[in-house]
Amino acid sequence: MSPSNDTATLRLGDQSIDLPLRTGSEGERALDIRALRRATGLITYDPGLVNTGACESSITFTDGERGILRFRGYDVEDLVDHCEFIEVAYLLVHGWLPNAAQKASFSRLLNQNALIHEDMIHFFSHYPERAHPMAVLSAMVVSLSSFYPELGENRQEDIDLTVTRLLSKLRTVAAFSYKKSLGEPIVYPRHDMKYCQNFLNMMFSSPVVRDPVNPVLVDALNKLLILHADHEQNCSSSVVRAVGSADANLYASISAGICALWGPLHGGANQHVIEMLQQIQADGGHVDRAIARAKDRNDPYRLMGFGHRIYKSYDPRARVAKRICRDVTAALDRHDPLLDIAMELEAAALADPYFQERNLYPNVDFYTGLTYRQMGIPTDMLTVMFAIGRLPGWIAQWLELRSEDEFRIMRPRQIYVGPPQRTVKPLGERS
Ligand code: SDX
Repeated sequence: MSPSNDTATLRLGDQSIDLPLRTGSEGERALDIRALRRATGLITYDPGLVNTGACESSITFTDGERGILRFRGYDVEDLVDHCEFIEVAYLLVHGWLPNAAQKASFSRLLNQNALIHEDMIHFFSHYPERAHPMAVLSAMVVSLSSFYPELGENRQEDIDLTVTRLLSKLRTVAAFSYKKSLGEPIVYPRHDMKYCQNFLNMMFSSPVVRDPVNPVLVDALNKLLILHADHEQNCSSSVVRAVGSADANLYASISAGICALWGPLHGGANQHVIEMLQQIQADGGHVDRAIARAKDRNDPYRLMGFGHRIYKSYDPRARVAKRICRDVTAALDRHDPLLDIAMELEAAALADPYFQERNLYPNVDFYTGLTYRQMGIPTDMLTVMFAIGRLPGWIAQWLELRSEDEFRIMRPRQIYVGPPQRTVKPLGERS
């Protein structure tokens, strides 16, 4: 194949076809193969879609080699240092950072939509105590469509209302689910509190605990949710797009995204990082055994929170998450031995040729769970925290998909390798 400036010529025997090249605003180039099957009968083969662009998007830019992550052109570090989470949520959904009036109006809307229907609260009582919070979250989100069905007509005002409802109610569902799992009375959201303070208050206040939410933790939560807010075409965002491409409503699409995020190879990794560090601690704190197992091809054990499909350098989010973790630990003067183990494990892995040769670095999940532990978030809720952060990104991806000129159902092809045609034998003659 010989790429020129704007086309590549594919030669197949005596046939050749010119395929156009597309170039993104940051110089990324892609081969446009939309005409390939019609012109040649060929499809492409790319398990895991490692080399396949599913869409053009103006939401998030990542550069895995240079460790760059930008939301609508803003570096994530810049947003973490200068914005609150709801400003970044607004940026992802609308495309620009809100001014003071827009931020105030958005904050009011979030507060007006913070409650869930009282009938939904009974659902929590019927889950078994050991129900995983991600299962509850996904089920409750799709159930929201039964209580708030306005999305049927897909009118813009309905979609705007649904976006705000979801952003506010996901946080409420997460906190209510946690309280119910403790057997404690739920704590309702309050209009005099901002997004992150409200969540921590719903999670940790009670009729007998009236301590104000620690502002250090409110600031850390804002920062961590921003770090998780979007990440272009990751697994769960692709699932949200796939479900949305079938013209399913936003609640159904987000519920599917929550299930995809739950996977240990994806957002579920943050829970597995803590469990991995706890296991190392229980085994005497020897990180070298974990490193040896992670390198052993005959052992399915992996260093959770390490490696990434895109980042072949340090995940910029991991760098910020590590700083936040150390700042919170210092501010609260609470020493967590798991942080020591994490830093020792990171140093050992980064010095090991196995990880160096494969460009394996800490990813967003390696340090975030440690800060959530400082907040009192239980380990099985860590991926719920990831979902709360990722929700504005999922919504932005879903809205962008539906605004595309070529809005089509996502339906990849395959290469069939099964049995050739055969006829059915009568039951008595089958071996
Ligand atoms: C997220 O895509 C996104 O953007 C996701 C995310 C987002 O914001 O949405 O960034 C969030 O999901 C972060 C990733 C969280 N998952 C983990 O931390 C789980 C542990 N990491 C891996 O399982 C793995 O690194 C993945 C799943 C993240 C990436 O897998 P890839 O891109 O398919 O890489 P691979 O499995 O082909 O690995 C390449 C090599 C293999 O070794 P060889 O076959 O070449 O000998 O690297 C090895 C792998 O065995 N490897 C690891 C490893 N990760 C990869 N070896 C040990 N420990 C690891 N963690």
